Order: sequence, then C-alpha cells, then structure tokens
Amino acid sequence: MKKKVVGIMLCAAMTAAMMAGCGSKETAAEAPAETEAANGETEEEAPADTEEGEKEASEESAGGTLIMATNAYFEPYEYYEGDQIVGIDVEMANAVAEKLGMELKVEDMEFDSIIPAVNSGKADMGVAGMTVTEDRLANVSFTKPYTTATQVIIVQEGSEIAGKDDLSGKTIGVQLGTTGDIFASDIENASIEQYNKGMDAVQALTTGKIDAVIIDNEPAKQFVSKAEGLKILEEEFVTEAYAIALAKDNEELLEKINAALDELTADGTIQGIIDKYITAE
Ligand code: ARG
Repeated sequence: MKKKVVGIMLCAAMTAAMMAGCGSKETAAEAPAETEAANGETEEEAPADTEEGEKEASEESAGGTLIMATNAYFEPYEYYEGDQIVGIDVEMANAVAEKLGMELKVEDMEFDSIIPAVNSGKADMGVAGMTVTEDRLANVSFTKPYTTATQVIIVQEGSEIAGKDDLSGKTIGVQLGTTGDIFASDIENASIEQYNKGMDAVQALTTGKIDAVIIDNEPAKQFVSKAEGLKILEEEFVTEAYAIALAKDNEELLEKINAALDELTADGTIQGIIDKYITAE
C-alpha cells in the first residue's frame, strides 16, 4: 500500500517541482553541478591485451566507456574529495565497469536529472543511492539492489518533534525528487521546502528556517556531523533498496551489470566497499 502512495506522490512532487522552478535554489557555494569529474580509478586497462581477458573482453563492449550519472552531494555514496568524485557508488561502479572491460566516466548532475539522462542515452546508468520505487520502475529498469537504507528525520536538538506523527503542520526540507520528498508530501498540512542538495536542507534546519529534514540515513549522519545542534530521530520512516537505474530498452547492459553485481556480491567486493565507508555502530 505504501509503495503505491510512493508512486503517486513522486509524480506529484516532480510535477510540482518543475512548475515551481526549484532549480533556482541552487547555491554557488559548491562545485557546480553538471561538471564532469574524472575519477582517479579509471586507469585500468581493458583486459583485452591479456590472453585471459581476451574472451571476456570480446564478449563485452571492450574498451567502451560506461557513463554513470550521479548527484555527488550524497556522502558516503558519492561526494567530492577535492575535484574527484568518490564514495561507495563510484567504487562499486568502477568494479562493475572493470568486470565489463569498460572505463567508467562519472557525470555529476541534479538528482532529478539522472533518470532523464539515462533515458536520453546521455548516461548509461544512474548510480546515486537511488531507491527502487514503483513509480521509477515505470520509467527505468533497476538492477538487483546492492544495499538497503532507511529514511530518517533530522531536527534541532531541542525540537519538540519526536517522530513522524509530530511532523504535521511543520515545514520539512528535502532533496528535490528523492523518496524523502515523496514521504514529506504525504504528511498532512506540512509545507515542503525542496532543495537541490541535502546539505542545503540541513543548513536551513540549522538556521531555523525549517523544522525538520527527511533524508537517507547515511547521508543524514554525515550532514549532522558537519552541522551544529542537530540530531537524527531514532524512528525510521521506511526501509528502501538502492539499485542502479538503466534505460528500459537496455536489457543487454542490465544483464551484464546484474551478472557483475552477482560476482561482486559473492566475492565480498561490494560489502568490502561499503565497510570502507560505513563503520558499524
Ligand atoms: N534514496 C533517495 C532516492 O532515491 C535519495 C537519493 C539521493 N541521491 C543522491 N545522490 N543525491 O530518492
């Protein structure tokens, strides 16, 4: 039942966002969106030169470029370290590209541009801590999930808000087009402030412009640790699965990436990447 609501609300949120021209909230403080970041790990050679790699490479689009669309303001999944985009998704995508004998190229853009980029062929895949939702499944295919996450509520330390039931009538900040945005729009009488970056929502919370932020749990921890006087409520909204988004007609690539993900799961590579960025409590 919840899923259905998610589907409907996503559409509503996106339409509303487009009409409101939410892009204007972008601040110039950080590296501009739409920049291409070379990432340091794409130097691997396609395995075509070696005897062993020959068979694998000839089966794949050997030497091709695998373009990943992302929104690199979502630590620990994707974020800037200097001018490099790093994080769980980038490392995982690199491992996938390597399996496919391809070179990964990371393109940073607004979160709500990722699915259009994948569908127009501007990017091969969207890897952005992206939650599988029914509504998105109408527009793109998703690979097998590679991890799970939850939506959480961030408030000021002294806030009277103790859980989602206290959110009605409040002003809630979200990252535009995310599942947090969808859940917020489901809350009675709440007014929603959509930001292009999660951190911008968190900053608005710090200054008291808004009452709460709904966002994914791991980025929430990162944002709160970089801000003053904020806390994450214990109560989690919902558990979600993250997967890679592909154009619906790209079944060949979907199969290849799923096969690569299977191998990278079986040999512990994916868990190893996650553990590198997220320390268990
Ligand atoms: N998991 C949420 C969603 O799919 C948020 C993802 C935001 N990702 C990002 N790279 N900014 O809607």
